[in-house]
Amino acid sequence: MNHFHYKDKELYCENIPVKEIANKVKTPFYLYSSATLTHHFNVFDKAFSGHPHLICFAVKANSNLTVLNLLAELGAGADIVSGGELYRALKAGIPADKIVYSGVGKTKKEIREAAKADILMFNVESMAELDAISRQARCLKRRIRISFRVNPDVNANTHPYISTGLKKNKFGLPMSQALEAYKVASSRDELDIVGIDCHIGSQLIQVEPFVDAIRRIKFLLRKLDDFGIKLNFIDIGGGLGIKYQDEIPPKPDAYAKALLSEIKDLSHCLIIEPGRSIVGNAGILVTKILYTKDTEEKRFYIVDAAMNDLARPALYEAYHEILPVIKTDAHLHPADIVGPICETGDFLARERPMPDLNQGGLLAIMSAGAYGFSMSSNYNSRPRVPEVMVKDDHFKVIRKRETYARLLLGETIW
Ligand code: LLP
Repeated sequence: MNHFHYKDKELYCENIPVKEIANKVKTPFYLYSSATLTHHFNVFDKAFSGHPHLICFAVKANSNLTVLNLLAELGAGADIVSGGELYRALKAGIPADKIVYSGVGKTKKEIREAAKADILMFNVESMAELDAISRQARCLKRRIRISFRVNPDVNANTHPYISTGLKKNKFGLPMSQALEAYKVASSRDELDIVGIDCHIGSQLIQVEPFVDAIRRIKFLLRKLDDFGIKLNFIDIGGGLGIKYQDEIPPKPDAYAKALLSEIKDLSHCLIIEPGRSIVGNAGILVTKILYTKDTEEKRFYIVDAAMNDLARPALYEAYHEILPVIKTDAHLHPADIVGPICETGDFLARERPMPDLNQGGLLAIMSAGAYGFSMSSNYNSRPRVPEVMVKDDHFKVIRKRETYARLLLGETIW
């Protein structure tokens, strides 16, 4: 469910025509619907209401301050992977005791910052990282709460670049080393062992791999119990997929039911780290057709958004639905929708049946709320585009378009 819909052939976000925003803000821009975001978060939260739980939104999916603040107000915590994300999450009003810190390469500086902020827990991914955390705990003279991220070796059946729970992936500790790791950690006074964590991949469209993972975690929990190691949290990571094209991902209800039925006899608080399923379909990228070009081979629509604005098609050949902002009944003709960047990989869609469209026409690239702006760059010295939030019939620019001057920020001629 999302609040992008046609009214009399014109695309609206909630109660405001997308074209009206485009006229004021100019293209390209990201557009988020606050009602969709709120709805997605509440549905997710409610699905888990039968068990103590905490939803730690994966900040990497969309790290805009207003987006994070909206989620904070709904009760969300955060899953962070860098000092920058910690900074953003705290600035957005997410309480430190709802922040978990994942990632294989936390630096000493980042560990200190998160420890000083007193976050809920570090998801530790190697023994070397455990040592680094121990050192900082001793140095700061404070106990640090940790959980281990284990690699349950389950196949998430997703794009190889976003699959993380296989033995060959760099993430987490192998299950075979986990027990020993917990024993080592439990012998250290400066550490509080509070949880166990895993994250098996992203854009999963089946619940089975999640269930597999949680079963393996339960098996480990029993072994830890035998050694007198008791935990408070089970963090199952994120990864629930969304519909981009014709996928039928499980509904949050079904996903929650499958997970909760595995842990119904346990009193641990369940942490979930969704990113895409909260924001993915709450955002679009609005772009304008700069030129149309028909060659012997192909039709091209050259638009003002590019792979630096939305990297997913170029990076993963990801599919994003593309809708004309003003619907037409013109017949469909396959076209490549490409950006101005000097790379053949700079496409937003290929061989996509599109109606005949004119120069100046607006297109909406759908499902762009997750890993859209957050993965954008300045490649080709293109200023990053604004982010706009809609609430009912109002909108606000929540991140300004970058200026040329900002492109040079921090640079000098030597
Ligand atoms: N927790 C951890 C530890 C993660 O690494 C991730 C995503 C998440 C949670 C959130 O996963 P989600 O619920 O959003 O699937 N750039 C790629 C996705 C990379 C995901 C990385 N980790 C894309 O555009 O598809």
